[in-house]
Amino acid sequence: MSQNTRKQNAAREALKYVEDNAVLGVGTGSTVNYFIEGLQEIRERIRGAVSSSRTSTEKLMKLGIPVLDLNEVDHFDIYVDGADEVNPRLEMIKGGGAALTREKIVAAVARKFVCIVDDSKTVDVLGRFPLPVEVIPMAREYVARELRKLGGNPVWRRDCVTDNGNQILDVHDLSITNPGELEQAINAIPGVVTVGIFSRRGADVLIVGTEDGVRVSEK
Ligand code: A5P
Repeated sequence: MSQNTRKQNAAREALKYVEDNAVLGVGTGSTVNYFIEGLQEIRERIRGAVSSSRTSTEKLMKLGIPVLDLNEVDHFDIYVDGADEVNPRLEMIKGGGAALTREKIVAAVARKFVCIVDDSKTVDVLGRFPLPVEVIPMAREYVARELRKLGGNPVWRRDCVTDNGNQILDVHDLSITNPGELEQAINAIPGVVTVGIFSRRGADVLIVGTEDGVRVSEK
């Protein structure tokens, strides 16, 4: 079974979490794209979606799903998104697609975060995937120096400007044994907009697409 089929299986399972008349948060990435495809079938019973990126917004609008401004939504039930890595405590690394800041904002408002991944994304310790950090452009080199002091090896993602007009540093060679602490430490560096560690607001439900179907775990 291909990796794409495993992503698709996880995404289809997440459709079961969408309740009638729901407003839902929608993440970004290839796994979420399968979820958005699936929304087509249940479009009539969705009130609207809050989107985490321009790319997902376009896809939702093409399906005729109303895209709501987060400022006009007090709360909503579920946020469905992928991840680049997820550990057994349902902490994640996100931002491979550079949408981490909006993803973190939308995730913060949702009551339940449903993470959908294929089984290549599950790890015991986060950090094999280079950790994305969104930075204000003028602070890039300063932030890079501070990240080196924390033991990482930051590399500027040169071809990338985020939806917020910022830049991304991908931090290699970190073994993240205390994600909550590192999330806080990196967030505290002036010039950092968002670090791609999702520990303080991790996932509540993890759906992993595997060779044998799906594996679901809850916090
Ligand atoms: C987007 O910035 C990321 O956080 C994505 O959620 C993550 O990269 C997963 O993407 P895929 O589903 O394409 O692997």
